[in-house]
Amino acid sequence: MTQDEMKQAVAQAAVDHIQGRLEDDSIIGVGTGSTANCFIDALAAIKDRFAGAVASSEATAERLRGHGIEVFDLNSVNVMDFYIDGADEFDPYLNLVKGGGGALTREKIVAAVAREFVCIVDQSKQVDLLGAFPLPVEVIPMARSYVGRQLAALGGQPQYREGCVTDNGNIIIDLHDLEILDPKALEAQLNNIVGVVTNGLFARRGADIILMGTPEGVKTLRH
Ligand code: A5P
Repeated sequence: MTQDEMKQAVAQAAVDHIQGRLEDDSIIGVGTGSTANCFIDALAAIKDRFAGAVASSEATAERLRGHGIEVFDLNSVNVMDFYIDGADEFDPYLNLVKGGGGALTREKIVAAVAREFVCIVDQSKQVDLLGAFPLPVEVIPMARSYVGRQLAALGGQPQYREGCVTDNGNIIIDLHDLEILDPKALEAQLNNIVGVVTNGLFARRGADIILMGTPEGVKTLRH
């Protein structure tokens, strides 16, 4: 089974996971990236079974609308049962690193609202310890150098992501070569640096369930 086939399999598994619990007025939170795109495509087959979606990026909003799925402003939504998104890495405690596509801030906001965060990944994302994937940090542009120095002081190698402007008009600094021993503590520490908008550690709110694509089929991981 190819990586693309594994992504399609977990996308369909996510649809199967939520569809029995959807109501006519349900709003689904939808993430960003190639695996989330597979989910959007699979979700389109049941678009008459729910009201619409909240998108974690402009790209996702466009893809949802392309399938005829209504996209709601998060501020108009009180209850969201599910958030479905991919990840760049996950550990045995279902902590995640996200933001490889630069959509981390909106992803974290939508994930915070949802009752259940269903993370969909292929097995290449599974690690024992987070940090091999460079940790994305979204930064207010004028704080770039200051934040870079603060990140270097943590022991990692900060690298400005050239040419990347987020949907929020900010920049991304990727933090390389950092072994993340305490994801929750580091998430809070990074958020405390002035000029940081958010960081790609999803530990205080990690995934509630992970659907992982493997050549043998989709595996379900829970706490
Ligand atoms: C987007 O900013 C990221 O958080 C994605 O969720 C993550 O990069 C996973 O993307 P893929 O599904 O394309 O690997």
